[in-house]
Amino acid sequence: MNTTKEINRRRTFAIISHPDAGKTTLTEKFLLFGGAIQTAGAVKSNKIKKHATSDFMEIERQRGISVATSVMTFEYKDFLINLLDTPGHKDFAEDTYRTLTAVDSVVLVIDSVNGVEEQTRRLMEVCRMRNTPVIVFINKMDRDGKNRFDLLEEIEKELKIQLHPMTWPINSGKDFKGVYNLDSKSLLLFSANTKANEEDSIVIKDLHDAVLNEKIGEKDADTLREDVELIDGVYGKLNDEDYLSGNIAPVFFGSAINNFGVKELLDTFIKIAPEPLDRETSKRVVRADENKLSGFIFKIHANLDPRHRDRIAFMRVCSGRFERNKYYHHVRLDKDFRFSNPYSFLARSKDIIEDAYPGDVIGLFDTGNFKIGDTLTEGEDFYFTGIPSFSPEIFKELVNKDPMKTKQLEKGITQLTDEGVAQLFTQFGGNKKIIGCVGELQFEVIQYRLLHEYGAAAEFRVLPFYKACWLTSNDEKKLEEFLRFKQQNSAEDKDGNPVYLAQSEWFLNTEITNNPAIEFHFTSEIHK
Ligand code: G4P
Repeated sequence: MNTTKEINRRRTFAIISHPDAGKTTLTEKFLLFGGAIQTAGAVKSNKIKKHATSDFMEIERQRGISVATSVMTFEYKDFLINLLDTPGHKDFAEDTYRTLTAVDSVVLVIDSVNGVEEQTRRLMEVCRMRNTPVIVFINKMDRDGKNRFDLLEEIEKELKIQLHPMTWPINSGKDFKGVYNLDSKSLLLFSANTKANEEDSIVIKDLHDAVLNEKIGEKDADTLREDVELIDGVYGKLNDEDYLSGNIAPVFFGSAINNFGVKELLDTFIKIAPEPLDRETSKRVVRADENKLSGFIFKIHANLDPRHRDRIAFMRVCSGRFERNKYYHHVRLDKDFRFSNPYSFLARSKDIIEDAYPGDVIGLFDTGNFKIGDTLTEGEDFYFTGIPSFSPEIFKELVNKDPMKTKQLEKGITQLTDEGVAQLFTQFGGNKKIIGCVGELQFEVIQYRLLHEYGAAAEFRVLPFYKACWLTSNDEKKLEEFLRFKQQNSAEDKDGNPVYLAQSEWFLNTEITNNPAIEFHFTSEIHK
């Protein structure tokens, strides 16, 4: 197989959104276009419902199913597309952030009625940190949404990114008539549940052509002419480089549920979205077309059957060709491993694969050797960088309820935090084990899994912290002094990095002001 050709045809991306904006619906339409699923509704049943209560078994059941949809691979017009799923539930936001380290670009879905929402803001922050190219899909145009100019302004301001409209809507809600493609100068007329084939679009070379009036009525035709003139004047033509560097986000309007505007999005996506990119490591930049294999683990999924403790580690292939049964070097453990049953994830099922190329995500069976951020190579020692940990938002002390099971508890919490379910901090001096999570749900997950998978009974005691900051300083002595003085609020993370646990924003700001020799970081890269 021609490796360069295989790399060039791959596109690895994620669809991200605030819950309910339409991510699952859009995913499903993409898969339909790719022929990976036959009927609508196939993806829907697989997602972790955002309304999931704290009914734990239900969450576990859905989590179990979600392994199959973690990566959806499909072909579209000679391109091989790897779509990485991200959990919709906000309590699993960290999972989403880590998944974003494994993609080369994202499609951001925004609800035209609700505009920019909380999760959108945070997800976009992660994209900005990594200069990830973003395409925006403004969904639900069939509903009465915000004024489109206001919406663009809101997105630009709130998400701190410049936009570039690729299509332009004609009204919204019950008056929604379709979109005008500013690039191909064609009009796509809206009808509910459309197949949105090319035949449906009408090429209008000159917007003053009377055919426009005929199709959408004089009033709307005039408005469209004015809008397009304005947009052309402001935005001009999209420069692909600006998109690829993460500075400008092309924007599409549509309605995912009606399969409207989706094909336009997908066609532009394959045209402009980046192929597997070169990646930074602790030593050097690794090019996708290098001969030797390298890749990193960005997600670990536990087997939910307590009789089988094995897990699936998801690896993004960054360079070279991965081969089944070949030995690879696990950099952190300095040990070689081979994998006899590596999985690829086609939309419907898991398949054992013989090989994989840069951009692909494969599932490796793991009996406890991997943690998030681990790197595999053909011998060279480096780590992929840019896999951050964010400060948790809720902190609780882990309390052992059964001293006879201390060992099991230790093992359980180590493995669960390796998987990235939560972050573990150990208080300086007191040795208190502090678990930090993004949402309450994870504490339930941990408690349940400790008991059922490791036989360890534990409970949690609420701690009054609000944020964890990683500390660095050029002045070792000052840092040591600070940690000693603030023992109650000081801890180390799993890798031994010092952390300050702040009770409130006020305390944090005070410490930042009072300790100019110390740097307070809000994210920590697992490997620097
Ligand atoms: P998510 O994954 O981002 O959480 O969103 P999801 O696709 O589940 O969509 C959220 C809701 O919005 C769903 O309705 C979905 O049918 C609806 N939706 C998606 N795209 C459009 C669109 O273009 N127009 C309109 N009007 N609605 C859209 P639901 O009632 O929550 O779920 P369901 O009963 O349809 O399953």
